[in-house]
Amino acid sequence: MFSKSQPIEVDLGCGDGSLLLHWAKRFPERNWLGVERLKGRVLKLERKAPRLGIAGNLRALRIESGYAVEWLFPPASIAACHIYFPDPWPKKRHHKHRLIQPPFVAALARTLEPGGSAHLATDHADYFAEMLLCFNANANFERVEPVVPATPEEMTDFERDFVTEGRPISRARFRKVKSKE
Ligand SMILES: C[S@@+](CC[C@H](N)C(=O)[O-])C[C@H]1O[C@@H](n2cnc3c(N)ncnc32)[C@H](O)[C@@H]1O
Repeated sequence: MFSKSQPIEVDLGCGDGSLLLHWAKRFPERNWLGVERLKGRVLKLERKAPRLGIAGNLRALRIESGYAVEWLFPPASIAACHIYFPDPWPKKRHHKHRLIQPPFVAALARTLEPGGSAHLATDHADYFAEMLLCFNANANFERVEPVVPATPEEMTDFERDFVTEGRPISRARFRKVKSKE
């Protein structure tokens, strides 16, 4: 998919992908993959990349994030995975649709390279607590300091809106410490 073989970072549910565009331009020595289920958002990202002079190290896939992590990405193939503001499915009866659940975390542990990170952010306190439970319960991960955006360009579109509204953002980073594969 990429013109050079170099470490891959994946943004699951990347939306319009403005953060991916920023990263792909700033870090050409890494490959950036956006995963998004809405076609319009994937097309928008693919249109914008060449206009910004990004070629070769940014791709977008229209696919379900859970499916991609479980079935598409080879074991130990991803250097970092970013999951920013995943749909919180706030109603209890809809929690089963949340992306971050124990089977997903187990699949992510297979997919990440040893030492690779999962970066998480959400404005939803209840979902954040569930994310922590899921990752803390998986022995392949250890919690480390999160990377906090220093400028608005380092935020996703949703984060910029939430910050403007004054909503608190919860953030965590988990590093893969060992592989059971
Ligand atoms: C709340 S938005 C956040 C977008 C972006 N991460 C941001 O922070 O600006 C969630 C995004 O995830 C996408 N999405 C939701 N569930 C998905 C799934 N199962 N697979 C792929 N994309 C998904 C939605 O279409 C939407 O673009």
